[in-house]
Amino acid sequence: MAIYKAAISAVGGYVPETKLTNFDLEKMVDTNNEWIISRTGIKERRILKEPGKASSFMAVNAAKEALKKNGTDPLDIEVVICATVTPDMRFPDTANTIAKELGATNAWGFDLGAACSGFLFGLTTGCRFIESGAYKKILVIGVDMMSSIIDYEDRSTCILFGDGAGCVLLERSEDDNGFVDADLHGDGNGAQYLNMRGGGSLLPTSAETVKNKDHYVFQDGRPVFKAAVSGMKTATNTILDRNNMTKEEIDWVVPHQANMRIINTLTDFLEIPKEKVMVNIDRYGNTTAATLPLCLWDYEKQLKKGDKLIFTAFGGGFTWGSIYLTWAYDSN
Ligand code: UT7
Repeated sequence: MAIYKAAISAVGGYVPETKLTNFDLEKMVDTNNEWIISRTGIKERRILKEPGKASSFMAVNAAKEALKKNGTDPLDIEVVICATVTPDMRFPDTANTIAKELGATNAWGFDLGAACSGFLFGLTTGCRFIESGAYKKILVIGVDMMSSIIDYEDRSTCILFGDGAGCVLLERSEDDNGFVDADLHGDGNGAQYLNMRGGGSLLPTSAETVKNKDHYVFQDGRPVFKAAVSGMKTATNTILDRNNMTKEEIDWVVPHQANMRIINTLTDFLEIPKEKVMVNIDRYGNTTAATLPLCLWDYEKQLKKGDKLIFTAFGGGFTWGSIYLTWAYDSN
């Protein structure tokens, strides 16, 4: 039983300045702008190219913006949840580095995987922590520096991914708005279709794993596409049913940005006008754990107190799900 209601009270984001356009990629692999736009909707992505800077750098910038917007002292943050598949290092967790850089010295924190569903899982975890009464202020960050694990000779993956970070501050809600429900799933049978095999305890990094390019993302796109469409639809349906909501009641859909064709299928299924669906895949590509909070960052000014938002994502694992929450503040 929830003692308190949890709500997002601020949003921050960060994308690196360097752009990698479809035309740049045409010079690197056998692809072309028309194919990429028609098959994915992506025009360009951002790449973090500054030496010595990694996921924590982007996450800290996103978190600083969220804290500043809402006038929150970093010392009041109690937990930092960092969803990422590209931590700065295998250990310690990037959440610890982020807390240190923010001056959030009273916080504990941890990294959470779950690939493209990482932010959904992190947001649910953070909201449940707040609801329990154990914590009052939590940062949930989705960040990925996908350029660090992409093979820029593999046209099937290098055209898809980009770098970025988004952050939300969670607090106890001042009214009835905030987190309502989550429907989350996992299926380990999906591991064969989307993974990075090298560098874990199964295949520790060696000359052999590097030679075999096991330290890069592998994706068999078609089965992932099919499972993504069906997983996101089913989870969203469950959320609507469970909360006695009609499709017409949705004010905003916040979908994972993996492929514009997946987003369009979901939009058609929900019979929702395109203006109600947050999209930035054309500019950032797939930033894995960062896609959902970067959507909030881009659309924040349009959000009004009481708006009904449905988040949905699908990723490696497989992992997927949907969240329903109502927006807790007038953003403009
Ligand atoms: O974020 C985590 C979850 N991930 C997703 O949700 C991604 C799901 N999958 C997808 O979005 C799509 O499957 C992709 C965008 C990855 C690929 O699109 P597709 O329509 O499924 O293409 P395909 O892999 O079936 O390939 C179609 C053709 C192939 O040629 P043939 O065999 O038909 O002659 C590919 O070799 O397109 C070719 N192709 C390319 N051509 C130009 C594959 N990649 C490229 C490329 N440029 N970059």
